[in-house]
Amino acid sequence: MPTVLALETSCDESAAAVVRDQRVLASAVASQVEEHARYGGVVPEIASRRHVEALPGLVEQVMAESGLAYGELDAIAATAAPGLVGALLVGSVMGRSLARLHGKPFLGVHHLEGHLCSVHLGEPLPPGPYLVLLVSGGHTEMIRVDGPGAYGRLARSRDDAAGEAFDKVARLLELGYPGGPAIQAAAAGGDPRRFPLPKGRVSLPEGGFHPYDFSFSGLKTAVLRLVTQLRAEEQAGGGPGGSAPFPLADVAASFEQVVADVLVQRTTRCARDQGLGTLVMVGGVAANRRLRSGMEQRCRELGLEWRVAPLAYCTDNAAMIGVAAEQRLRQGARSAIRLAVAPRLALEEAMRLYDTQAPF
Ligand code: KG4
Ligand code: ZN
Repeated sequence: MPTVLALETSCDESAAAVVRDQRVLASAVASQVEEHARYGGVVPEIASRRHVEALPGLVEQVMAESGLAYGELDAIAATAAPGLVGALLVGSVMGRSLARLHGKPFLGVHHLEGHLCSVHLGEPLPPGPYLVLLVSGGHTEMIRVDGPGAYGRLARSRDDAAGEAFDKVARLLELGYPGGPAIQAAAAGGDPRRFPLPKGRVSLPEGGFHPYDFSFSGLKTAVLRLVTQLRAEEQAGGGPGGSAPFPLADVAASFEQVVADVLVQRTTRCARDQGLGTLVMVGGVAANRRLRSGMEQRCRELGLEWRVAPLAYCTDNAAMIGVAAEQRLRQGARSAIRLAVAPRLALEEAMRLYDTQAPF
């Protein structure tokens, strides 16, 4: 039963957690969202500074809540890739310093492996390989998981990630940052079928379309065109004697629906084609209600087992980093204490974080 203190600082959430045997003993997240919201996106320099300020307090808090002393930990882990270099460094330096100070092994963790492991914080998974839809602000991918560290990517977005599309459309609709929760709130009560929007199919050079890959940049442009047209109608007062208030709820719901439809259709199709009986969804966008219920319903219709990360562990957190570290620790992995950070390391290269000689 390994017990791990884990840190996460790859983007704009500072987080610390203590996990034991895939259960959370304590978890704390300090979001910087409000500060970045003023700029409509994450400002890397501000993110690094806020991590420096927030992280020591969070570590103290989760250690106190766990009721454990440092001596009772089996390892200390921190996200080491991918992400903003300055932000990653804050967690890495703190994690490695604590490991050194308390004579514990250190493990650098791949952020996406963390997201993949977030599902283990919920209901147990059936045995066997499964298909994960990882939908976050930076990634939209389907990954076949055969076991800890055994990943094969089956599909990806060719341009924007789904979360990025939420954030960009929210900006168009003047709903603020981050876009996902804002669009979800604005869409409440809206008509999701009022405005048909494109599903972003990816053409193949030999003709036809890619069966699984996504493209969200055309959708964003289509929403821009729709919004421009609706605003013009609003200004014109909706024709003679009429009024045409901007139908925000319908636009937000129509956008949310097409994203959910595309993700559900292609992922369930991939699971069936590949003979994978279990479908898992993780990442920030997996917090979306319309997407969760759409995926659940389709999986039920198709007889697929279905799991999603618990709501609290969809967006960035340190508990999922702790679970990923636990899995690696069980396999005997350790990171070099000199391990730096790798802002662009691919998931398939995650094992390089456990080279005995620091690879970067
Ligand atoms: O996983 P995450 O916290 O960070 C990354 O690793 O990217 O994901 C953040 C993304 C943002 O784009 C945010 O708008 C989106 O997840 N998101 C949502 C919801 N909550 C967060 N998207 C749709 N619906 C939500 N409820
Ligand atoms: Zn993330």
